[in-house]
Amino acid sequence: MKVLFLNGPNLNLLGQREPEIYGSMTLADIEGMVCEHAGRHNVEIVFHQSNHEGELVTQVQQSAGDYDYVILNAAAYTHTSIALKDAITGAGVNAIEIHMTNVHAREAYRRKSMIAHACVGSINGFGATSYILGLEAAILHHKGNN
Ligand code: DQA
Repeated sequence: MKVLFLNGPNLNLLGQREPEIYGSMTLADIEGMVCEHAGRHNVEIVFHQSNHEGELVTQVQQSAGDYDYVILNAAAYTHTSIALKDAITGAGVNAIEIHMTNVHAREAYRRKSMIAHACVGSINGFGATSYILGLEAAILHHKGNN
């Protein structure tokens, strides 16, 4: 099984970005943790981050056929990007939406996700563990436990 982790804008700043909200782990720390977990489950993962909407759209498009799941922390583009929603639907990929924070407990504009209805499901609010839970969700969904 192959899983692509896609990370959107400003997630490259994790570790220094509002640590009281996002914690102290860097994106590289999270990638290491996810890699370790994936290894134990025989899952091949690729981890990618971009600050550019079009780059994320291209990555989603290109993932079709190559990956079983795309686990997507689209960050702020979650709340604005019809293009990302269309890419998920158009490419026909199994996407899982994840967020470190509980987006429903923050500013009102974070409660709306443009991509949620194109995704298999979503996980939010568990900090870096949201990445592990996203991977677990993909593994179980792949096995047919949905
Ligand atoms: C986020 C939540 C988004 O609202 C925000 O724009 C982010 C990070 C999260 O992981 O909690 O950049 O996706």
